[in-house]
Amino acid sequence: MPPRAGVFFALEGCDGSGKTGALAHLGEVLHEVTGGFLPTREPGGTAEGQAIRAMLLARGAHDWEPQAELLLIAAARAQHVARVIRPALAAGRVVMSDRYVGSTLAYQGAGRGLDAAAIRTVHALSTGDLWPDLTVVLDVDPEVALARGLARLRAEGSREDRFESLGLEFQRRVRRSFLDQAASAPARHVVIDAHRPAEVVQAEVAAVIRDFLAETRSA
Ligand SMILES: Nc1ncnc2c1ncn2[C@@H]1O[C@H](COP(=O)(O)OP(=O)(O)O)[C@@H](O)[C@H]1O
Ligand SMILES: [Mg+2]
Repeated sequence: MPPRAGVFFALEGCDGSGKTGALAHLGEVLHEVTGGFLPTREPGGTAEGQAIRAMLLARGAHDWEPQAELLLIAAARAQHVARVIRPALAAGRVVMSDRYVGSTLAYQGAGRGLDAAAIRTVHALSTGDLWPDLTVVLDVDPEVALARGLARLRAEGSREDRFESLGLEFQRRVRRSFLDQAASAPARHVVIDAHRPAEVVQAEVAAVIRDFLAETRSA
């Protein structure tokens, strides 16, 4: 496995917490970082991952058992890590993934009831145990996030509504899991209050990334 010269960030949070918007903003403001900035997303990021994403999200076409869902996500992540993330880190780039293992612990673990230790074992196998240097959690009340997400789905006519349709109780468990993950490893997480206006949230994400890079690179 190549050495990690770059820095690996994950961006986590419920559907509608503002991850995609924040990542687009980072792409605009982080041009200057050493090695270059690579935004990417789970479970896509590769052609194989996109194919799996389509299988997971296609409405009505499939009804996956939680274990099957975990292994499909792990397969997509194995491709994403081996083909995209590790090569970029080896080249010294700053990578940020829109969703990563934190989402698996939240959705397939807290949400669908799979054992966290089993999820970590699968993660180790599928990625060579690659964990983010820092995970940024966009924390928002699921009711607020769900309203944003449903508005967007209606506007776009998207059919990728599987995760959005899981309901409020499920999303509350997901939110709690992200906060628990952050509390259990505070040095590797930053929680950002995502109820505030998108510009404020995005500016704070960018500041967190800049500060972390400045600290990491001066160490
Ligand atoms: N802080 C915010 N305040 C109000 N609306 C927001 C905020 N952040 C995002 N949105 C809106 O909510 C929807 C979901 O945002 P998005 O960035 O796609 O979230 P995610 O990728 O986490 O699902 C979009 O329509 C977006 O414009
Ligand atoms: Mg998104």
